[in-house]
Amino acid sequence: MKKKVKTDEMTIDMIEGIGPTTMTKLKNAGYMSVMQLAVADPYTLTIDLDIKARDKRKNLLRCTTGSSQLDNLLKGGIETHAMTEFFGEFGSGKSQIGHTLCVLAQLPVEKKGLDSNVIFFDTEGTFRPERVEEIAIARGEDPDKILDGLHLSKISHSATLELMVKDLAKYVEEFKSKMVIIDSLISLHRAEYAGMGQLATRQQRLNVLVHQLLRVAENYSVAVVTTNQVMDAPDTFFGDPTQPVGGNIIGHASTYRIYLRKSGENRVARTLDSPYHPYDEVRFTVKAEGVTDPEDKKKKIVEEALENEAV
Ligand code: GTP
Ligand code: MG
Repeated sequence: MKKKVKTDEMTIDMIEGIGPTTMTKLKNAGYMSVMQLAVADPYTLTIDLDIKARDKRKNLLRCTTGSSQLDNLLKGGIETHAMTEFFGEFGSGKSQIGHTLCVLAQLPVEKKGLDSNVIFFDTEGTFRPERVEEIAIARGEDPDKILDGLHLSKISHSATLELMVKDLAKYVEEFKSKMVIIDSLISLHRAEYAGMGQLATRQQRLNVLVHQLLRVAENYSVAVVTTNQVMDAPDTFFGDPTQPVGGNIIGHASTYRIYLRKSGENRVARTLDSPYHPYDEVRFTVKAEGVTDPEDKKKKIVEEALENEAV
């Protein structure tokens, strides 16, 4: 007797009549299950399958984080065509980075922005528009203009997040956005699929989610920024530091992973598992203007500039 497969467990390989080329295209575009294909809207599906391999490096942009030190760690800032994950314990600065990017991504390229609108998914209810206003004002930008360019979505169920991400290509085009921030990526799944028996389902759903995000990042020249709360320093875990929360999936999909920790008034950021960046550690801080360099670093930069002028 044939084993009965549940509808939500059916993969696209089980569909008869799909040729190998289309099958590869579908998989590359992140369509793995019959369910995903069934609920995909035709608009997104057409775009996904029509995407030609583009020269991604050609129009690669980098967005400043507000801290020259953190930018250095990222080799110039947050990259488009890539997914950057900030992970760390509570209060380590993940959400503040997100708030600061809401302002900075909208700045022109000459000011190290992306000249773009911003899409922000808030899954923890911690987004504060007035904080974005404060950061904009402190940086001499028009707060109303910045808030106009911000598309905020408060999400409280993992299914909603999945739906939004599934249609992200559409939103990115509609809002002309090159910066998508998800604060945080896995908290809803973590809460809803809490039992050990649900671990496989959770990982599978997160897997689909991160691959869809990567696909949008790569195909639409978008910088995808995610946050992930972890309970402890990576050194104290065996293997992957996000193991207790997100498993390996997030780590392997993110292009860049930055681990954040508190150090008094300052925050320390360091790279982890990056194929492009050597191990490195820098300091930044959070002030009225959002993420910025610590005072001593700023002083040093000014002193060096003055010295150079004097020569
Ligand atoms: P969780 O979401 O709890 O995991 O923490 P997080 O990593 O998102 O921390 P968040 O970015 O919210 O806060 C980091 C730090 O930024 C705080 O501990 C404060 O020191 C600082 N901070 C937060 N809000 C403000 C603000 O409105 N003004 C200033 N100047 N600093 C702030
Ligand atoms: Mg936060």
